[in-house]
Amino acid sequence: MTIERVGVIGAGTMGNGIAHVFARSGFSVVLCDVEQRFVDRGLDAIGKNLEREVTKGKITADDKAATLGRITSALDRGKLSDCDLVVEAATEKFEIKAEIFRDLDRILRPGVVLASNTSSISITKIGALTKRADKTIGMHFFNPVPVMELVEVIRGLATSEETYETVRELAVKLGKTPVEVNDAPGFVSNRVLMPLLNEAMFAVMEGVATAEAVDEVFKLGMAHPMGPLTLADFIGLDVCLDIMRVLQDGLGDPKYRPCPLLVKMVDAGWLGRKSGRGFYTYA
Ligand code: 3HC
Repeated sequence: MTIERVGVIGAGTMGNGIAHVFARSGFSVVLCDVEQRFVDRGLDAIGKNLEREVTKGKITADDKAATLGRITSALDRGKLSDCDLVVEAATEKFEIKAEIFRDLDRILRPGVVLASNTSSISITKIGALTKRADKTIGMHFFNPVPVMELVEVIRGLATSEETYETVRELAVKLGKTPVEVNDAPGFVSNRVLMPLLNEAMFAVMEGVATAEAVDEVFKLGMAHPMGPLTLADFIGLDVCLDIMRVLQDGLGDPKYRPCPLLVKMVDAGWLGRKSGRGFYTYA
């Protein structure tokens, strides 16, 4: 099936970034969220991020206008019925994704691939909710989506070779590099990244060093663009905690125990950059 029209569920940071890269690569995009203000915020972010690319000379003002012109918005998932593929980037809660995938399975033509941008929830489990487990796959983008080159492509137990190939080729068309991974808690990216961030939090909690010092070690000693605590704030501490819990539940090893300081900060509503306070404070 030729893919021309792509639906994106969720206009938050990941969803608007995904809509941005599809539209910039010439696809027609329907950006869908549950409230107009979420869609408006997403479209506003896409406009600002495209403007950065214009300022940097990566695209022209005409490219920006054409990209925005390829994006339409929707509150009703029924408007996705003519899409050739849908990427779900909604809240990282299984019950929310379950409701969306059951609904998409009903709305979309039988051959259409359903991809999830989940950062750790089982693709096999999501696929089993639908009548098209063979057409369900993980398409995991990285924040900021317009900048990061990786797409982790996750095969569920029932994902077909054809579905995998479709998504692999699509990632290449977006100018990204797909990396194939099998379904397992946290896949590869978060299986390895989150314990690093969690351990950095333990170091702060135990008074081994300040957050600033831990971040300096990783920036200057390991050439990471952001230290682990800056990165945790950037990702969102609630997201980090959710992923640690998926690793803990799914793998059962005590080494995945979420750092108590992380739990406490999330309880306090200190979610990182998005809430204005995490390991650092933000204006
Ligand atoms: N849209 C478009 N362009 C953007 C952008 C956006 N949202 N954000 C940044 N950029 C561009 C800038 O314009 C700039 O372009 P240039 O290279 O042509 O000058 C470039 O990206 C770098 O941005 P800045 O100069 O503003 O800032 P930095 O050099 O500090 O880089 C960063 C910012 C790219 C975010 C860098 O710090 C970085 O790579 N950090 C690590 C990010 C990371 O690890 N992401 C993965 C998180 S994990 C995840 O997403 C998975 C999930 O499941 C948890």
